[in-house]
Amino acid sequence: MRTQVGIVGAGPAGLMLSHLLHLAGIESVVLECRSRQYIEDRVRAGVLEQGTVDLLIETGVGERLQREGLRHDGVWFSFGGRRRHIGFPELTGGSGIVVYAQQEVVKDLVQARVAAGGQIVFEVEELSVHDLDSKLPKIRYKKDGVAQELICDFIAGCDGFHGITRPSVPAGVIAVYERIYPFAWLGILAEAAPTSDELVYTYHERGFALFSMRSQQVTRLYLQCTPDEDLSQWPDDRIWEELCKRLSTQDGWAPGVGPVLQKGVTGMRSFVIEPMQYGRLFLAGDAAHIVPPTGAKGLNLAVSDVRVLSQALEAFYKSGREDLLGQYSANCLRRIWKVQRFSWWMTSMLHLFPGADGFDHRRQLAELDYVTSSRAGMTTVAENYVGLPLD
Ligand code: APR
Ligand code: PHB
Repeated sequence: MRTQVGIVGAGPAGLMLSHLLHLAGIESVVLECRSRQYIEDRVRAGVLEQGTVDLLIETGVGERLQREGLRHDGVWFSFGGRRRHIGFPELTGGSGIVVYAQQEVVKDLVQARVAAGGQIVFEVEELSVHDLDSKLPKIRYKKDGVAQELICDFIAGCDGFHGITRPSVPAGVIAVYERIYPFAWLGILAEAAPTSDELVYTYHERGFALFSMRSQQVTRLYLQCTPDEDLSQWPDDRIWEELCKRLSTQDGWAPGVGPVLQKGVTGMRSFVIEPMQYGRLFLAGDAAHIVPPTGAKGLNLAVSDVRVLSQALEAFYKSGREDLLGQYSANCLRRIWKVQRFSWWMTSMLHLFPGADGFDHRRQLAELDYVTSSRAGMTTVAENYVGLPLD
């Protein structure tokens, strides 16, 4: 089999890349080790930056997002028992965010690719990449037990943090920059109508908590826990008790309680590789970087990477230009590092660190007081949260 761009992984990065390439007249094949149903049901993040929303709409995959997505014009920070609001449009020239679950974006992209005759091969096994430093890199895999080879002009490694493309780059080419945090998030989806129409990020002496949502009927909530937290120690009643302690504010606001539909623990790390390219392999999304979820940036970074990559590939196929491909990594990394900084900052400001003392506590409260009262502070939060420009 032969294609122009072989894409490993059908997450937001791989699917959006395939969609953008199709619109530019470039052929691709997406290879995914899981089933279609698995990737369409996987519960993950849900905050889309303004630029992500605009791109999905402009490229014809935003119809359901516009109907079902929840537009938010601000966010709450809660500390010392009080909530403070930061409004986005007035601080950013009209931008906001939309809450729309990642698996819904995945469903919309899969449907668009299938409708356009795009090739996505699910449930591939034993995938490996070869001849990355040649002009004809190859992907080998098995489908239904039969060995296959896909010969490509380029390979896009969109196979997430645990994928195989990044480890296929020879040792010594890639540098890793990393921070692992001494806590995690215990997250639940609950059948309870949201009691706030915007997200509430809470700093509390018992630890961080976040109130988010998925629809008019479903709330998404998180609380800071230990990285090795044992979920069996967390029956639903204990989760609600802890969430209510941390989230409730003096003005009487509290999350609505309801049946827990799903629960899980999410680890927290910051991770970046440099460069994001080796020969004709280009890495994008979680394969190249991880952000802690506090800034809600993972999906948005994946989308901005593949936007840069599709433009570089388009310049190559339309006019033989290789300069943009050569600059792919540097162009992405400038934005990635700004987003890493924001995610790290939000994480540091809002969590309780082991060993923190009274000084740390007061410093964190003062920082929250500052960023929610000074126009400069609020603008910093707002412009990063709705998404920085591509460059
Ligand atoms: N072969 C084929 N497919 C693979 C392989 C492999 N060896 N390894 C992983 N995959 C697939 C996974 O099953 C997954 O569907 O690659 C896909 C990677 O998708 P994501 O993990 O969603 O990564 P990405 O597309 O970069 O999107 C980043 O996902 O983790 C969230 O919060 C993060 O929102 C961010 C987004
Ligand atoms: C979510 O709704 O899942 C969510 C929202 C904001 C975050 C992280 C996750 O920062």
